[in-house]
Amino acid sequence: MTFQVQGGALCAGPVSLAGIAEAVGTPTYVYSADAISAQYRRLEAAFADIPTEICYAVKANANLGVLGLINGLGAGFDIVSGGELQRVIAAGARPETVVFSGVGKSEAEINLGLKLGIHCFNVESAAELQRIARQAERLQRIAPVALRVNPDVDARTHPYIATGLKENKFGVQASEAVGLLVEAERHPWLEASGLACHIGSQIEQVGPYLEALDRLLDLLDELQASSVELGHIDIGGGFGVTYQDETPLDPRELATAAKARLRDRPQTLVIEPGRFLTANAGVLLTRVEYLKPGSQDGQPSFAVVDAAMNDLLRPALYQAWHWVEPVLPPGDGASADCWDIVGPICESGDFLARRRQLTLAPGDLLAVGSAGAYGMAQSSNYNARGRPAEVLVEGDRFRVVRRREHINDQLALERIDAHG
Ligand code: LLP
Repeated sequence: MTFQVQGGALCAGPVSLAGIAEAVGTPTYVYSADAISAQYRRLEAAFADIPTEICYAVKANANLGVLGLINGLGAGFDIVSGGELQRVIAAGARPETVVFSGVGKSEAEINLGLKLGIHCFNVESAAELQRIARQAERLQRIAPVALRVNPDVDARTHPYIATGLKENKFGVQASEAVGLLVEAERHPWLEASGLACHIGSQIEQVGPYLEALDRLLDLLDELQASSVELGHIDIGGGFGVTYQDETPLDPRELATAAKARLRDRPQTLVIEPGRFLTANAGVLLTRVEYLKPGSQDGQPSFAVVDAAMNDLLRPALYQAWHWVEPVLPPGDGASADCWDIVGPICESGDFLARRRQLTLAPGDLLAVGSAGAYGMAQSSNYNARGRPAEVLVEGDRFRVVRRREHINDQLALERIDAHG
């Protein structure tokens, strides 16, 4: 466990979370560099027997400090926008380690990828392939392309984060993929480099991956028959983690099964983990502002905290469960109750957790767990709230890797009238 109680106080490794809150304020995201590194090493070890590129899915947590750490571990990156591309470059990544996914790449984003010389574009439609070809010719740069296939596989996860079914907007149908890659191979400004898929997120079983991999391998055989040789095969990300009581797949099991299937094939395997590396390496620190004890007639008890759905959207959006623990032992006068942990935002959907048995007093610090992935990344300025600070704990030290937003950060972008 990354976050453990020591001498009564919840800590990140040897660093007290209360000390961080004291120094930086709340709400604040705290990430453990050791926990991220340990997860990375776990994946690296699991896939050690197969030539594998681990391309971290930046969307899970795009903080520069986190990206710099992951870059230092030797990872490549999976990006979905020009902004993410600029972030990984700013964090020190080499462009040739970057794969560019996403259904709506703009001309400007494609040009940026071409100029920087990324590893490949994961192409999601025939129209996108044409656009990339046009831009490649214009810039006189060869564009390496992988085709993202929609394998029509049920990832058995939350419907909002399943992406591999044919009703989802992602990828091209398997029947189209071969034709498009043959077209790419013949095009003077395109280079067919791989086949890709990503079937969803928070996947708990190996089965759906293997179904998807088998579809890609069938396509690889068809391509070989057309003399198209590809350099890599990308099975996406989605490796599940434990939020509550899930027992997600062991990457070693997936690696073993993948190895058996990839035997004798020259292609490198690419994986795009996001959540697996960062989710359980992060907590959101928040302070109790008010307690509103419930009534006999069934009104719940509310603990109103200073973090809200704009800071951590997952509970509101996916009904996601995140653990909540007090950072310090309860003081005198704290009330034991079954609390709904809610934020200050004017929506009933603004909750971080529901029905948690906790002993609380106003002013208490809480840690909301498993918040290192899709936490800060999905935050917003809703209700004109500034986004939280972010802190990275490395060994026995911590540093602020993003300062808290100030209202001036928001106001600076806007104007009252035409003259400003
Ligand atoms: N590769 C592609 C092409 C993706 O679309 C995604 C995630 C990943 C990799 C990384 O998936 P991961 O390993 O993190 O599961 N906001 C949602 C998750 C959305 C995932 C979108 N795509 C959540 O909070 O659960």
